[in-house]
Amino acid sequence: MSQVELHPGLADVPVAESAVSFIDGKRARLEYRGIAVEILARESCFEETAWLLLRGDLPTQRELANFDDELRHHRRIKYKLEDLIKCLPETGHPMNALQASVAAMGMFYPARDVSNAQGNWESVVRLIAKLPTVVAAFHRLRTGDEAVAPRDDLDHAANLYWMLFEREPSPAVRKVLDACLILHAEHTMNASTFSARVTGSTLADPYTVISSAIGTLTGPLHGGANEEVLDMLDQIGAIENIRPWLEKNREADPKYKIMGFGHRVYKVKDPRATVLQELAENVFAESQRPKQYEMAVELERLAATIYGPKGVYPNVDFYSGSVYQSVGIPRDLFTPIFAISRVAGWLSHWLEQLKNNRIFRPEQIFVGRHDVTYVPLDKRP
Ligand code: ACO
Repeated sequence: MSQVELHPGLADVPVAESAVSFIDGKRARLEYRGIAVEILARESCFEETAWLLLRGDLPTQRELANFDDELRHHRRIKYKLEDLIKCLPETGHPMNALQASVAAMGMFYPARDVSNAQGNWESVVRLIAKLPTVVAAFHRLRTGDEAVAPRDDLDHAANLYWMLFEREPSPAVRKVLDACLILHAEHTMNASTFSARVTGSTLADPYTVISSAIGTLTGPLHGGANEEVLDMLDQIGAIENIRPWLEKNREADPKYKIMGFGHRVYKVKDPRATVLQELAENVFAESQRPKQYEMAVELERLAATIYGPKGVYPNVDFYSGSVYQSVGIPRDLFTPIFAISRVAGWLSHWLEQLKNNRIFRPEQIFVGRHDVTYVPLDKRP
């Protein structure tokens, strides 16, 4: 009998000490380096938040100006990388394009010596600066348009919008996009962050670390959930169908999962969902509340009585999809935009991992057979 106890999904098993972020799942509290995420979403910008996560403290005015300049300066991608993106199948998922491009990027900027702090910082800047350019280029090229060059007179969020649509966002749209980048930038030891730390623990280069985290983020139980939420709302079709839809699914499978609901850590409503809804109202005031958003609000209300007692409430992805959709972002770009934001958190954890590194090598509980006889192929049926 093994003495080691199995914790499926590593639930409640600490895998590292970290000072990057903190969640209190009962109090709906998420802090980046000690600062409540709602405050950052309302008052900070993505660039400042990224510095805070990476360096541990808010930047001085000069530090922020320099970091912002560095990011603007490194937004362009090599023309060969754009050629590579052109060759990717336009029907493929943009997350796969992003993962492949980031892995390829590492060939343009070899960064194999991860003991070099200056080199690591340059990789951090390049990765944060270039991810939006890659995502926007793949999107433009797959629809038959030219890629739109980044503009260095726009901030991170506005430039992303510009490269996607070749027009500037309204102030409310810029703000909500910036807030989405802040809200998704970091979230303690989630699956993709763990993936980044595992890959980082082998002393792999940062482009490999980030492409590995991007791969982990693609799954529908993680970053892919916001796409699935909209598919689910489409399938429901109308507000009046919500109650019968809920009843039908629960009858068929009492464990039926509502996409965008539930969280390993939060047992109350995700605080990011609450602040996102607040900021989204400014965007809806310019256009109108989208049907999917209205449906999501009603689904949350009806589901509360059923799932609330279990501590299953909306997470940030329950609302982020309908907000992105309302500003014109195609559905399959939701998760890539999540990656554009989360790269700040992944890199913060990577730097933290390197400070006190030991390669990850967990244990397993063996449940297979021993001493099995090898039967030669010609003796097998
Ligand atoms: N809808 C209905 N019930 C749910 C949901 C849901 N979305 N999520 C969990 N539950 C229920 C489970 O049926 C289970 O009930 P039980 O105790 O009666 O068996 C209980 O809550 C615990 O659920 P687990 O799946 O064990 O929780 P776990 O922590 O392993 O999973 C996860 C968390 C993956 C997020 C899960 O809630 C889920 O699949 N949600 C839907 C996908 C989703 O929204 N993912 C995005 C996560 S946030 C992010 O990545 C940004």
